[in-house]
Amino acid sequence: MSSKHNDFMSFCALSEAKGMGINMKLVVMGDFHYPRMVDASEELREAREQFFGGMLKAFLDIDADYHVSLGDFTNEGMNEELEYVFDRIKANGTGRTFIHVLGNHDAYSIPKTEILAISGQQRYHRIETEEAVLVFIDTTKEMDRKDYGGEVDPEQAAWLDEVLRQSADKPVLLFAHHPIPNTTKLSDKPMLHIHPEYDIWPLMAKKSGRGYYFCGHNHMNSIVQKDHWHLVQTAACLDIPAFRLIEVSEGQVSVETIHIEDPKLLELAAHIGQNMKHFKPKAGALGEDADLTLTVVHS
Ligand SMILES: [Fe+2]
Repeated sequence: MSSKHNDFMSFCALSEAKGMGINMKLVVMGDFHYPRMVDASEELREAREQFFGGMLKAFLDIDADYHVSLGDFTNEGMNEELEYVFDRIKANGTGRTFIHVLGNHDAYSIPKTEILAISGQQRYHRIETEEAVLVFIDTTKEMDRKDYGGEVDPEQAAWLDEVLRQSADKPVLLFAHHPIPNTTKLSDKPMLHIHPEYDIWPLMAKKSGRGYYFCGHNHMNSIVQKDHWHLVQTAACLDIPAFRLIEVSEGQVSVETIHIEDPKLLELAAHIGQNMKHFKPKAGALGEDADLTLTVVHS
């Protein structure tokens, strides 16, 4: 029997064992910015409930192995905002595995230990599956409303270095709030990235095999490749009501954008986005076709 035939037989056996399909699905939410709206009209508060409640339900209704928020889940990180979103996840997310990485807005008002006590989340951690290593990191400063750029503390950076080294050739999917400098749209601008003195790109560059970096913060869809990494930045939900669906299958990773088609939710998004504090609608947030889908076949 030729070695080619042997390869084909082992491929068939492996495919059969894995059901020839997608092995892991993740659905990812960009900056959500659930706001407390202290002085808002009753009408605007009702619009808030319908939009954010509707979006969370739509998110959790998507069947996936992991549901991930890329941070800025709340607008100011106030207790009442954090409690609303995490109560909703608990109430509507039975059977779902929800993972939140911190965004700068989430960390504006209370210490991170208090946020994590409300959310029940870890600040940074990893999950190893058969197909990939999922890594979730914290790139935020603590209670600093003036400097909204990113940083990664030395202890976490050392941990990340080790996780990436141990991943060897296995694909890594790394989730964080802030972009890597000079990669996705606007990440060349001050505070629209992890500050260069904390840049984790040198750690990422050392990884062997493919890597995927998912971030938010800049409120624009953008997908770029840098060496053996693909970087996927996702727009804010109020600008572009949509989620990213990541599918990991044998030898392939793909990303697509699932748009929310409900006209009422789209109307509410525009209305709220124009009428809330600490949020500015972003022109050009949708991006081009190349910022919406990605398919990478691993050789
Ligand atoms: Fe944001």
